[in-house]
Amino acid sequence: MTQAQDRLHQLYAEDSAMPLVLEEYLVGQEASVMAFFADDRLVILPLSQDYKRRFSGDAGPNTGGMGAISPAPQFTSEEQAAAKRLMQATVTGMMTDDMRGCGVIYMGLIFTAAGPKILEYNMRLGDPETQVLLPQIQEDLYTVLTTLMAGETPRITLNGRYYLTLVMVHPQYPGATDRAVRVKIPEPKDLTSDIWLPAAVDVDEAHLLTSAGGRVVDVVGCGATLRDAQLVAEQLADQYAGELAYRRDIGYHAFHMEHA
Ligand code: GLY
Repeated sequence: MTQAQDRLHQLYAEDSAMPLVLEEYLVGQEASVMAFFADDRLVILPLSQDYKRRFSGDAGPNTGGMGAISPAPQFTSEEQAAAKRLMQATVTGMMTDDMRGCGVIYMGLIFTAAGPKILEYNMRLGDPETQVLLPQIQEDLYTVLTTLMAGETPRITLNGRYYLTLVMVHPQYPGATDRAVRVKIPEPKDLTSDIWLPAAVDVDEAHLLTSAGGRVVDVVGCGATLRDAQLVAEQLADQYAGELAYRRDIGYHAFHMEHA
């Protein structure tokens, strides 16, 4: 407390008109929860977790996301139920405020010792969470969405598999990049059961190259456990990263769970 007060005095001494925002310091694991909605009808997707910092152990600068997992077995069934209640309360509140519509709600949560707190809302799918969420849905996505928009609440069936995505980035990311880097293209045989998703990619006469830099290619591993999914994703990344960089500890917040 004294330290905080000293810092406040110091900041105001530097500029007495400085606007300051004081925020509660929240400790806990973050999760993303996404839902398709039409008015107050919801199709809620499983919890996922993205890893935003550039380097292992959640060190370094923030990025657009260096990887994600789902399902996220570190969250208890009570925590998952609490996330669903918050999503339901959100659309109920939107209806009360006459905010009707349909689309996607993305809620960023942190599970603190005092319960879940909402950090942010977005009206879009999350990246890279989408890559580990959509493959779990067994039904045809178009049918799910059109059924929801037609006034029903479709049920979705999850395939029970674990997904882990690694985001391969330009080696200078998230700093400015001053050169393009070659992007390797996987052999078709390596893509039969797993997913390789190019994004910031350009092409010259013969090769794929990174375009503006940033996050370049995602590889998604799938398995009966999160460890299995991690192995698959790492094998793909090792083979196809080339000069691209990626984090080797995606999922580590979950791996203390025995069944992860
Ligand atoms: N994964 C963070 C976001 O999509 O905003």
